Amino acid sequence: MEFIITAVSLLFLFANVVEVHAGNFDVTKYGAKDGANADISQALMSAWKEACQSTSPSTVVVPKGTYLLNEVIIEGPCRAPIGIRVEGTLKAPADPSQFKGDGWLTLNHIDQFTLDGAGTFDGQGATAWARNDCGNNPQCHKSPMNLRFNFITNAVVRDVTSLDSKNFHVNVLGCKNLSFQHFTVTAAETSINTDGIHIGRSDGINITDTNIKTGDDCVSIGDGSRNINIQRVNCGPGHGISVGSLGRYPNEEPVVGITVRNCTLTNTMNGVRVKTWPASPAPGTASEMHFEDIIMTNVGNPILIDQEYCPYNQCTLKVPSLVKISNVSFKNIRGTSSSQLVVKLVCSKSTPCQNVEVGDIDLTYSGPGGPATTLCSNIKPTFTGKQNPPACVNSAQSS
Ligand SMILES: *[C@@H]1O[C@H](CO)[C@@H](O)[C@H](O)[C@H]1NC(C)=O
Ligand SMILES: *[C@@H]1O[C@H](CO)[C@@H](O)[C@H](O)[C@H]1NC(C)=O
Ligand SMILES: *[C@@H]1O[C@H](CO)[C@@H](O)[C@H](O)[C@H]1NC(C)=O
Ligand SMILES: *[C@@H]1O[C@H](CO)[C@@H](O)[C@H](O)[C@H]1NC(C)=O
Repeated sequence: MEFIITAVSLLFLFANVVEVHAGNFDVTKYGAKDGANADISQALMSAWKEACQSTSPSTVVVPKGTYLLNEVIIEGPCRAPIGIRVEGTLKAPADPSQFKGDGWLTLNHIDQFTLDGAGTFDGQGATAWARNDCGNNPQCHKSPMNLRFNFITNAVVRDVTSLDSKNFHVNVLGCKNLSFQHFTVTAAETSINTDGIHIGRSDGINITDTNIKTGDDCVSIGDGSRNINIQRVNCGPGHGISVGSLGRYPNEEPVVGITVRNCTLTNTMNGVRVKTWPASPAPGTASEMHFEDIIMTNVGNPILIDQEYCPYNQCTLKVPSLVKISNVSFKNIRGTSSSQLVVKLVCSKSTPCQNVEVGDIDLTYSGPGGPATTLCSNIKPTFTGKQNPPACVNSAQSS
């Protein structure tokens, strides 16, 4: 009898040891309950706190089910590699006024981090979109973004879905070596300001095998972005894949090393573009940007450099942009355009674009207004290979 009890307790002990080594910190063990009204914020934070103290790799697990998650800030650094695995659906409060900050789930200062699982972050954004007046009210309430990655290094975001964010789905700030793989972003075409992934002041960000359907840019790349690789991304609906907008604020850092390759854009408002504001308060640069092997279907403004980007007339076009754009290529871009103007390369009068190559373009337009057109100003591109529509004749040229 005694022997049996000892064996059983040994088994228990062993099981516990195994569990600790497996390093899973399941939120349901910290008070989380399945159910759309059951808030798991405290449980998630408690599980994170313990996992973060672990000296061996650990994973916080949100199992299958539907949960309410309020505004949460997850802090590193931790003592070992750490992950969050979401298998269930997390729902944000629908009312944007319930948020104090600009993020729903914010992650700060974590090294060797993984966010994965088949689960979904549902921002329940419809109420926020209906109230959004940021287009004409600079003091507008800024709704939270679904996921904010601040100063995250050596990290992977894999398989999870961001649904109906109230604002940008994902914001990447100050990160290094962060990869998005098999990531999904879904929101209605009519949703407001719901950029898929926005990157700024970050180095070594990869986005691969990712599907983005949303109401604004699928990917937008802000100042201080370096070594950004976007491959096998399907975008649409949405506003396309954008560098910028740049040149609106002082102290912007250079953008350098952007590769967009093997992507498809379908029914998007724009294709691949670089946009900068006129009347920049300070000079800036954007260089080494390469857009290659891209298939477009029914895309507006498929190839676009716009240095007169001025939405809602918030600026004056009289003063040219001070952002210097150089070493850019658009190569092997094929498909159909929904706008007559297919290639628009409008650069700054004060800092003309330099070293721009446009090669193997085959984009057809079959809508009203006649054949497809191209427009170039303050730029002398190098044209190589096929050019359909025909290469642009410069409408303005600086010396
Ligand atoms: C980038 O991060 C991944 C994931 O943590 C890691 O495996 C890889 O070694 C890192 N690369 C570098 C150059 O640090
Ligand atoms: C990111 O992409 C670049 C270019 O394809 C590649 O060299 C690099 O290894 C990738 N990094 C990660 C962490 O996947
Ligand atoms: C990328 O696109 C090119 C041209 O369409 C194609 O030859 C190549 O196989 C693609 N590569 C991948 C990894 O999809
Ligand atoms: C542009 O490319 C040229 C030639 O490859 C190189 O010498 C120059 O440093 C590059 N300029 C920038 C700003 O990257």
